Amino acid sequence: MRYPAKVRIVEVGPRDGLQNEKQAIATEVKIALIEQLAQAGVEYIEAGSFVNPKWVPQMAGSEAVFSGMARQDGVCYAALTPNLTGYERAAAVGVSEVAIFAAASEAFSQTNINCSIAESVERFMPVLAAAQTDGMPVRGYISCVVGCPYEGAVAPEVVRDLAVRLLELGCYEVSLGDTIGCGTVGSVGKLLDVVLPAVAADKLAVHCHDTYGQALANIYVALQRGISVIDSSVAGLGGCPFAKGAAGNVATEDVLYMLNGVGIEHGIDLERLIAAGNYISGQLGRVNGSKVAQALGNL
Ligand code: HMG
Ligand code: MG
Repeated sequence: MRYPAKVRIVEVGPRDGLQNEKQAIATEVKIALIEQLAQAGVEYIEAGSFVNPKWVPQMAGSEAVFSGMARQDGVCYAALTPNLTGYERAAAVGVSEVAIFAAASEAFSQTNINCSIAESVERFMPVLAAAQTDGMPVRGYISCVVGCPYEGAVAPEVVRDLAVRLLELGCYEVSLGDTIGCGTVGSVGKLLDVVLPAVAADKLAVHCHDTYGQALANIYVALQRGISVIDSSVAGLGGCPFAKGAAGNVATEDVLYMLNGVGIEHGIDLERLIAAGNYISGQLGRVNGSKVAQALGNL
């Protein structure tokens, strides 16, 4: 079987994980989580989001997080930026890179970012132009790549064409988001059959929410096809505020355990990562959502 020798984990817990939490989370707690993730060897951390605070209040303090955290050499501290306002806020606090986010479904685009897919691409243009001037790398997301909470099944061709467009516009990589975690080995396999002839595997990442418990299997399919960037969330934190019922991302701990089993390098200390997951779970008053963390914790 053809697997990548090494995988890059994009840790989205501090952003995708925490953005959906209703309870107040102190800036110091967010910072402590980010610092523990870096100490565990995570080299890419999505640490916040510069969106309209009216829509996602939990991320309103992203400036304070970026300004207050200690940064480790070699770690990329990224943030979501939906428009130029967001980009300027992010650049002002020294993010390492930014991510723009589009959707493969019109209804989700309207609910999430209040505009059509075409309008969203227009809005990203000034962000990409400013980023190019500043030498800031831009990552692209596509949400709802297999299914939408409002429109149902999504055509793989729409995802393929949007991925090609985001790369043409200057994104260095596109993360394929199964926002509501409805994908299966079948539907994700079909999606990749359509996307991979148009977009090289080394330009793609997978971002699997685990709502239906299919995330690890879907990631495995992506690995088999040479995709070597995996988005995941420590302790399985998260959900999307604009996709009712969406569970957290696949737990990073569970992904690492699977990668260890296959013999794929990832550079992260699993025990230290579990400790970071236990820390944030304790702060949120719940058990760690990672099966691996639970299993090893019970040994
Ligand atoms: P808008 O509210 O639709 O309209 O914003 P607007 O552009 O006319 O702005 C309205 C007000 O917001 C104005 O202020 C703007 O200045 C302000 P007012 O004049 O009323 O005082 N504003 C901002 N303030 C701070 N930062 C900004 C910003 N932009 C405008 N960046 C917008 C459009 C896209 C910004 C809004 O709809 C928004 O912020 N949406 C948030 C969406 C979001 O964060 N969703 C969750 C993340 S996506 C996700 O989770 C999926 C992903 O994980 C992948 C997957 O799972 O598939 C990435
Ligand atoms: Mg997500």
